[in-house]
Amino acid sequence: MRVALVTGAAGGIGSATVRRLVEQGYAVVGVDLEEAPETDTVAHVVGDVRDRTVLKGAVDFALARWGRLDVAVAAAAVIRGGQPLWETPESELDELWDVDVRGVWNTAAVAVPAMLAGPEPRGCRFVAVASAAATYGLFHLAGYNAAKHAVVGLVKGLAADLVATGVTAVAVSPGSTNTAMLDATADLYGIADPVAFADNQLLRRVLDPDEVAATIAFCCSVDGAALNGGVVHADGGFRP
Ligand SMILES: NC(=O)c1ccc[n+]([C@@H]2O[C@H](COP(=O)([O-])OP(=O)(O)OC[C@H]3O[C@@H](n4cnc5c(N)ncnc54)[C@H](O)[C@@H]3O)[C@@H](O)[C@H]2O)c1
Repeated sequence: MRVALVTGAAGGIGSATVRRLVEQGYAVVGVDLEEAPETDTVAHVVGDVRDRTVLKGAVDFALARWGRLDVAVAAAAVIRGGQPLWETPESELDELWDVDVRGVWNTAAVAVPAMLAGPEPRGCRFVAVASAAATYGLFHLAGYNAAKHAVVGLVKGLAADLVATGVTAVAVSPGSTNTAMLDATADLYGIADPVAFADNQLLRRVLDPDEVAATIAFCCSVDGAALNGGVVHADGGFRP
């Protein structure tokens, strides 16, 4: 049985990812600030990805209960914004950096050693959830754009550090997806209905979290090795 760590596991994309992975036979330990349901094959840790000891505890739990760690999905994040960069308080950049970047860094820092020490490093996958904001400069989201571009840089450097180990690293960049974060983004822009974000995608609809989770789950698979060091765009054809 493959075993995964998923951060942001109580959120829209994170919880859909947990469901997908379980359907594919994984055992999963989730981490989130919020509670999430547990089953025989899903454990959940309430904690903050800014705290590396929380993530180390989740990895140690997976190793103690299921004996291995094959996959880590770093999906926990916040969105902040609503003003141009020069009017944005520095505290907002600090929070985005700490949660959206350091949280991914912390997840990799605790998960990768367990993967390298495990029985099958060649099947191990680190997947970070970035964003269309990691490719484009979306207006009034200066700190979020910077943080998500940093996530892609982190993944590329991690893949280079993992050279020839068999463990791979990839970023998945969703477009507008129907979750609490999209509602929050609409609020930042003063948009009444997040469905309006459909105009930015060639699909002309927002994505369902399960569609993004399907892409993430492929990236987690043994067959996902060829994606190493890259960015997978799960954005329905995003055009800002
Ligand atoms: N929804 C979208 O349109 C969209 C688009 C592009 C990228 N993304 C990315 O997808 C990922 C998942 O977002 P989502 O849309 O499911 O949002 P969401 O708000 O539904 O889920 C995010 C989860 O992260 C958790 N979280 C936040 N801060 C945390 C912390 N410090 N420690 C632990 N958990 C924390 C939240 O409690 C929440 O459950 C994020 O990385 C987000 O940036 C989302």
